[in-house]
Amino acid sequence: MIISHSPTETFDYGCQLAGELRPGAVLALTGELGAGKTCLVKGIAHGLGIAQEVTSPTFTLIHEYRSGRLPLYHVDLYRLDTDADAVGIGIEEYLPSDGVTVIEWAEKIESLLPPGTMRLRLALVNDTSRRIEVA
Ligand SMILES: Nc1ncnc2c1ncn2[C@@H]1O[C@H](COP(=O)(O)OP(=O)(O)OP(=O)(O)O)[C@@H](O)[C@H]1O
Ligand SMILES: [Mg+2]
Repeated sequence: MIISHSPTETFDYGCQLAGELRPGAVLALTGELGAGKTCLVKGIAHGLGIAQEVTSPTFTLIHEYRSGRLPLYHVDLYRLDTDADAVGIGIEEYLPSDGVTVIEWAEKIESLLPPGTMRLRLALVNDTSRRIEVA
């Protein structure tokens, strides 16, 4: 468990984590609105050597970034209602993928997450601090 004291610290943590990731890694991110999930993904992208700006996927639910050490698939399921909808968008192809799959609101597809999924639970502590737990 770590406490991040600023968006920069969360970004840096993601950056550091990226160095340990191998092809097929699936990261399940959970945590309320504003917990810092996207901030962490931005750090992971940076750590993988992706220069492009990372923005949250909304309509498509999945954004792909291919300019880094490994492909990054950023999935945001905030707008998703059911597992069946996830299958509808072809999510299984990314569970795992040939690169790194990072999923915001991963609890919505709990039953689809493959064995070995790395779980990162983020929580608000106060305005500027966030708790990050890895399991
Ligand atoms: N220690 C911190 N780590 C990360 N973000 C922080 C921290 N302290 C404050 N913040 C702020 O919290 C917000 C986190 O936003 P972010 O989009 O990363 O959250 P999210 O979990 O992806 O939310 P959503 O569920 O809406 O997608 C930002 O406005 C950021 O500036
Ligand atoms: Mg987000």
